[in-house]
Amino acid sequence: MKKQKIGICGVGTFSRCFVPLFQAHPLTQEVVLADLVPERLKEAADAFGVKRTCGSMDELMETDVDAVAIFVQRHLHGPLTIQALEAGKNVYCAVPMASNLEEIRRILELVEEKRLIYMNGETSYYYPSALYCRDRFRKGDFGDFVFGEGAYYHDMSHGFYRAFQHSGGANWKRVAGFPPMYYPTHSTSLVLSVTGARATHVSCLGVRDHADDHVFEVGANEWDNVFSNETALMRTSDGGMMRINEFRRVGWWSQISGNPMSLYGTKGSFEETAFGQCWTGLEKEELKDVTGDLRCARHVSAKQADENLHEVLQRDFHSDYSKSHPTQRLPEVFIGMQNGHMGSHQFLVDDFVKSLGTKKLPLVNAWEAAKYCVPGLIAHESALRNGEQMEIPDTGHPPSDWDLLDPNESV
Ligand SMILES: NC(=O)c1ccc[n+]([C@@H]2O[C@H](COP(=O)([O-])OP(=O)(O)OC[C@H]3O[C@@H](n4cnc5c(N)ncnc54)[C@H](O)[C@@H]3O)[C@@H](O)[C@H]2O)c1
Repeated sequence: MKKQKIGICGVGTFSRCFVPLFQAHPLTQEVVLADLVPERLKEAADAFGVKRTCGSMDELMETDVDAVAIFVQRHLHGPLTIQALEAGKNVYCAVPMASNLEEIRRILELVEEKRLIYMNGETSYYYPSALYCRDRFRKGDFGDFVFGEGAYYHDMSHGFYRAFQHSGGANWKRVAGFPPMYYPTHSTSLVLSVTGARATHVSCLGVRDHADDHVFEVGANEWDNVFSNETALMRTSDGGMMRINEFRRVGWWSQISGNPMSLYGTKGSFEETAFGQCWTGLEKEELKDVTGDLRCARHVSAKQADENLHEVLQRDFHSDYSKSHPTQRLPEVFIGMQNGHMGSHQFLVDDFVKSLGTKKLPLVNAWEAAKYCVPGLIAHESALRNGEQMEIPDTGHPPSDWDLLDPNESV
């Protein structure tokens, strides 16, 4: 199988968790780094022993890389993904997929037309709760889906100021005021990746922000967004209901569970709180505390962690597997390496590189990613109309002759 040359676009904070994994994967031939900030680029190249670097995405597109992994600021994901696909490169992109419907439609069109691999790096897809629920849903233990909820509680003070200031310079507020529902995928994927349905209708409300940092105000950000917290209720295509909370101004110590999910079915239910997770069926005997199986270890020593990161981001960037993670499918070389976001990083890298090698659709392919992202874009529209119920466009399915990757298959 042909080994892959992979360009990493953006060597800010997050991609540093991924560079060593891309380098170590047995199907990778070379990793090339790109960033607009020369000193950041040089420092990263030295730290990771990378020989080839590019001063921009444009320059990276001129190289012979097979694929690009995009870790730039969130509002740039759509345009850079389109640029890469138009240049004939396969794409991995951090979430969200894009910040408007036109960009998402163009990405789907390009992926289908050119048969390029596109994968969205949705960390929640490999969260222990999602893995546990997917497994039990497939076995029929939930029965019919009734209601699911996913939330992303991340107060601005928990590392977000630094994250936005890192690349935003004096204008950092222009992007920090991103509407919360434009970043819904950590939450929506927790429910939709389990049930396989899509959201069809949404009604959403927002909370107008009053904080004195003036991030969420008309004129302060690119979207004239005034909401720091948004809650959406959605109808799903299987007849069920889903509630999504995207909160950026909330008194919640997200060290325990900043991204909880719960899912209720006609036969069984799963519930997650800050204190842990439980499964229950209709009978008392079925009630089970599954917290121990889903708890992720902290991976690296404090020495390896970046002390400039807020403790919440330290936890995010250095959490390892839980007992529910299928580690046997990972390349052996990954075991013991840095992991992150509840053990998900290694699985995401493995999925993408295996998809490149096999040309099969990754699990979080463009159509799956659109299913997670589009409901939030429409939800924000609904919030602007004070909760008016709106239809969510159906972005369709992958072509039927394109096989889905089985990540357990040895390649
Ligand atoms: N759980 C998750 O999935 C998760 C967690 C953290 C961050 N993220 C996402 O990852 C992305 C990156 O976050 P970050 O904190 O590392 O951001 P960052 O601001 O620290 O880094 C972004 C880098 O991209 C570079 N860049 C921008 N445009 C470029 C271009 N055209 N060519 C080359 N380089 C370019 C910037 O110079 C910067 O160094 C964000 O979109 C964020 O939302 C996702």
